[in-house]
Amino acid sequence: MSLVQPAVFAQLRRSLPAVQEYVYFQTSGFSPKPDFVIEEVVRWSRFYNRGPALPGVYATMLAQLEATRARVAAALNADPAEIMLGENTTVGINIVANGIDWQPGDNVILSDHEHPGNRIPWYNVAQRYGVALRFTPVLHDETQMLEEFARRLDARTRVVSVSHVCRRTGQRLPVRAMIALAHAQGVPVLLDGAQSFGSVPVDVRALDCDFYTFSGHKYILAPQGTGGLYVRRDRIDWLRPSWIGSHSQQEFTLDGGLTLRDDARRFEFGTRSLPDQAAFGRALAYWEEVGWNCVFGYLTAYTDRLKAALMELPGVVLDTPLPYDRSSAIVTFRLRDRVTGDFVPSATVCAYLAEARILASTLEKDATRVRISTHVFNDAEDLARLLRVLAAL
Ligand SMILES: Cc1ncc(COP(=O)(O)O)c(C=O)c1O
Repeated sequence: MSLVQPAVFAQLRRSLPAVQEYVYFQTSGFSPKPDFVIEEVVRWSRFYNRGPALPGVYATMLAQLEATRARVAAALNADPAEIMLGENTTVGINIVANGIDWQPGDNVILSDHEHPGNRIPWYNVAQRYGVALRFTPVLHDETQMLEEFARRLDARTRVVSVSHVCRRTGQRLPVRAMIALAHAQGVPVLLDGAQSFGSVPVDVRALDCDFYTFSGHKYILAPQGTGGLYVRRDRIDWLRPSWIGSHSQQEFTLDGGLTLRDDARRFEFGTRSLPDQAAFGRALAYWEEVGWNCVFGYLTAYTDRLKAALMELPGVVLDTPLPYDRSSAIVTFRLRDRVTGDFVPSATVCAYLAEARILASTLEKDATRVRISTHVFNDAEDLARLLRVLAAL
């Protein structure tokens, strides 16, 4: 059966200048933006520039920010009061990492596949407060993975911070079971949603996570520098605010009195790029209109097809679990040199693909995995071209 791209996604494709020139399999890193999102940034920048201080202008911009918050909340099945809007995923990780009253000898559990954004903030608290870092291995065997995880949890574990979707292999971690294990010991869990928001279904209530941090600028196709953090209602007061300022308060006095907002907006402060946040809302409105089921249905068909075709190529070793419901829009593979038997460096494979105007990703500190991140704008011809070029290689 041939892969049929729904008309709505073919139309989206036409609104993406970047994909006219390149086969774009790099959404997991930096996604291209549709014209209608960029136009929204321009529209709101123009509006704001009538005069940010004019009556009504700033209030209208703030109303857009609140509309975006409501859309994020709806996409995650959260309450708007639980959503902090910021620039990216890493901001959310920092809010949690610096919001804990650390004691020497405490520990935090990460997976061994985390992005620098979900490592460096924890390395910082480790160096600053004498906190131990524990790395739990990401394994395809979920039972074994959960056993390894359970062995690392103890009375001094203060928080667990792991990816919802692994950026290296595209695997969906068994986070629901990990959260149940952590909660059984009273340990909160932060999910790094950089690779899951928009690429797999996310329901923070069903996942039962305490925190979920996300980017708009990946699968949502929102402007660069949009994202935020979900903080479950009962964790808002638990988290110590570290960076706060104007907008965080419900009330303050000139002699030191401060009452913070009682919602996740207490973690927002200072002047923001409101046109970008408004366009983040526009991107979410697009997905709402299309329907998430349609998105995930096409990603399932696309990645199934890609995985099946890759497995037929000689020398290809697939690193991504086969079913979409255990993986995501990411497919990673390694290529074995048929003469030496060694894996070909991913930089070599990606450079070869780039010559054919195909954008794929090498992963830092992982010299042989090639990451293909797909999206609904990728069509059957993109896939055929990738396979042709790989077959020639
Ligand atoms: C799993 C994961 N976490 C965090 C990040 C960092 O995201 P941001 O730049 O939005 O903070 C990335 C970026 O690729 C990622 O893949």
